[in-house]
Amino acid sequence: MSDPDEPQLEARLVEQEAFEPPESFVEQANLTDPGIYDEFEENWPECWEAAAELLEWESDWDEVLVDDDEPFYEWFVGGELNASYNCLDRHLDDRGDELAILWEGEPGETREFTYADLHREVNEFAAALREIGVEEDDVVTMYMPMIPELPVAMLACARIGAPHSVVFAGFSADALATRMNSSDSEYLVTCDGYYRRGDALDHLSKANDGLGGVDHDTTTVVVDRLGDDLDHDLADGQHDYHELVEAQEGAEVEPVTRDAEDMLFLMYTSGTTGQPKGVKHTTGGYLSYVSWTSQAVLDVKPDDTYWCAADIGWITGHSYIVYGPLALGTTSVMYEGTPDYPDKDRLWEIVDSYDVTQLYTAPTAIRAFMKWGAEYPGRHDLSSLRLLGTVGEPINPRAWKWYYTHIGGEECPIVDTWWQTETGGMMITTLPGIGTMKPGSAGPPLPGIDARVVDAEGEEVAAGEAGYVTVNRPWPGMLRTLYRNDERFISEYWEAYSDPEADEWVYFPEDGAKIDGDGYITILGRVDDVINVSGHRLGTMEIESAIVGVEGVAEAAAVGGDHDIKGEAVYAYVILEEGYEEGEEMHERIIEGVEDAIGPIARPEEVIFTPELPKTRSGKIMRRLLVDIANDDELGNTSTLRNPEVVEDIQRKVAGD
Ligand code: WT7
Repeated sequence: MSDPDEPQLEARLVEQEAFEPPESFVEQANLTDPGIYDEFEENWPECWEAAAELLEWESDWDEVLVDDDEPFYEWFVGGELNASYNCLDRHLDDRGDELAILWEGEPGETREFTYADLHREVNEFAAALREIGVEEDDVVTMYMPMIPELPVAMLACARIGAPHSVVFAGFSADALATRMNSSDSEYLVTCDGYYRRGDALDHLSKANDGLGGVDHDTTTVVVDRLGDDLDHDLADGQHDYHELVEAQEGAEVEPVTRDAEDMLFLMYTSGTTGQPKGVKHTTGGYLSYVSWTSQAVLDVKPDDTYWCAADIGWITGHSYIVYGPLALGTTSVMYEGTPDYPDKDRLWEIVDSYDVTQLYTAPTAIRAFMKWGAEYPGRHDLSSLRLLGTVGEPINPRAWKWYYTHIGGEECPIVDTWWQTETGGMMITTLPGIGTMKPGSAGPPLPGIDARVVDAEGEEVAAGEAGYVTVNRPWPGMLRTLYRNDERFISEYWEAYSDPEADEWVYFPEDGAKIDGDGYITILGRVDDVINVSGHRLGTMEIESAIVGVEGVAEAAAVGGDHDIKGEAVYAYVILEEGYEEGEEMHERIIEGVEDAIGPIARPEEVIFTPELPKTRSGKIMRRLLVDIANDDELGNTSTLRNPEVVEDIQRKVAGD
């Protein structure tokens, strides 16, 4: 590093444990009055009307919260609105010529959509969806990478009252089929392919493979992203996106009136068991909550050039690339590719060239930037940035401080936002113009949110002790149920801490945490069998069933081990059937099996062949031990094992002997 003061600066930062919001930020922040916490507390649940009032309603709600059938809460009951109207139409008069989406493709081209442009294309595609048969309440699946047609399709669905179900483009064909079958979705919007590190990737073949596994008839729309770089054919029942839209040129589709509690979308996520869960979000509560948190936490203002560098295939992108920012009428940046193409300064080049004002990304990305070195952001002027955010996994204080110094120039507050697919929006974080920041700790619960850290009995733990996060009151952005599975909704999220007899309902997010004397919560990670790889949630059961599906595999255990960049990585312990050989070929087939069933993100970091798995006397796999082995940690108690001798065996294999 060229700066001679740098070592001293680093030394000072390493020690510093609390940071005040920068003065320059506070002067212009959307929220600056700490009284908001008490205000929300004293006026709960009516406090949430402030969120709903950020939207335009066709008819007002009669009741803020209805809780006669807990835990099936309803928000803004009786209210009517349309999400696409709120994200588009209502901005046309004042901001029709301002940018809604500023998109950059990986090869470097840009596409700009003003609110008027986006409104036009959404209307045309909404008309096209109707033309091919989509009706209100039909689930439309989207299997698309980061191209503008994805938010267009989402908003077109919202316009006609058809819930969308977006499947991350990196997921496999099987994952697509499972989700379309589970939601009986008869419509798919996808594309021919996209660019990754300079290559044109074929996506349509994967989509078609997935459709082969769907057990009902489907109609597909294909966006031509790659033009001459990849030829593709359309099968029967498949339409070209651009032809459909052209045929509807100038069409206007009246936004369908939706009840506040009508479903806006489904999002599948991983849980403890093999079957992904269809998380159901509704129109009024969700849209209010993501708008309010975008304004309060990300400090979004209409004139910003705001960038959430997540993928729309995950909840972060739904809430904070599409719905929150567009409902507030700001400019939302979208980038198609990877951060290291053509070089490791791609993100900083984007921030610099568009004068990005907020950047919201994941700790895994920050750890990669840190490893690449400060010279890459150093090549660019990042002074347009006024706020930084992180989401998806705990951020270690070193990465926090690197982000603060080298990206934020010590002028930007950082919001470390804890939330989940199920919560719809942020739950625990500092408010950037109000709260002291403590690197590594997400912060206090947001105003109106009653999140606690409790012991196994549900009693709050003392400061400094570890326990479990619970949320003891409902909030507008909460999931309403698991699609067509109310029972699993209750057993997954409510059974652990609720007391139905006493009418006490407590939401359990399945995260461990600590709390300090100031009420700041430090998230420790999942306490269920879910692995968090680069901020993405993967169920160990899903991975195990993929491995066991490989011919010759008798048994498998997947666990999450520590990883410098990814946070956690998948370690797979595998027992083969008689007559099958350990070795390169088997290794490859297992990796392929996982990639085919889930996708490359679930690819095991290591596959360890073993004749046995460590099991308790009752026959349960001791996962804790497998995690210790993966991390090369001191092993916990092995005295309850039925087969303690296998442990040393496995350890030797991991060490590579
Ligand atoms: C799980 C939810 C929220 C959108 C992205 C992930 C972990 C999330 C943080 C954070 C520590 C975090 C939790 C949570 N997580 N944010 N700021 N600090 N951990 O959504 O796929 O539903 O995963 O991600 O373990 O339960 P998701």
